[in-house]
Amino acid sequence: MALQRTFSIVKPNAVADNNIGAIYHRFETAGLKIIASKMLHLSKEQAEGFYAEHKERPFFASLVEFMTSGPVMVQVLEGEEAVRRNREIMGATNPEEALAGTIRADYATVMSENAVHGSDAPESAAREIAFFFSDDELCPRTR
Ligand code: PPS
Repeated sequence: MALQRTFSIVKPNAVADNNIGAIYHRFETAGLKIIASKMLHLSKEQAEGFYAEHKERPFFASLVEFMTSGPVMVQVLEGEEAVRRNREIMGATNPEEALAGTIRADYATVMSENAVHGSDAPESAAREIAFFFSDDELCPRTR
């Protein structure tokens, strides 16, 4: 199975709650390697651009407001079946429906502040990685 990359965000509530390290630990114990990472405070334009596909949805304004409310961590994760594996450890979008032991079950309580974002397909992963990282910021692991 070939290595795959996915894009991930530790959202403002999880950063504010000091859960960056705990969430990075989940990635690493799931076999995902962090090959790029940075802290950012998203501008309104960045958040609107990143979530553009959802701009007609009723929660769009509140999603943008939340995502710009404080710093986030953005990272690129690499591993076998990285997209699927990351979605699995994140848990359901609504933390109330997330399986026990998933990141959203453990570090989020409500849908509007659900702790993490993860790409939903390899194509969106490529687009989302390019939105935040240039090629020379990615550090593929040799071991
Ligand atoms: S998913 O995972 O993309 O299929 O989920 P979806 O339901 O399509 O939601 C798209 C993103 O919007 C967020 N979301 C919300 N934010 C605020 N309030 C409400 N009610 C709400 N519902 C969904 C959801 O977390 C998705 O963002 P990301 O960053 O992908 O998790």
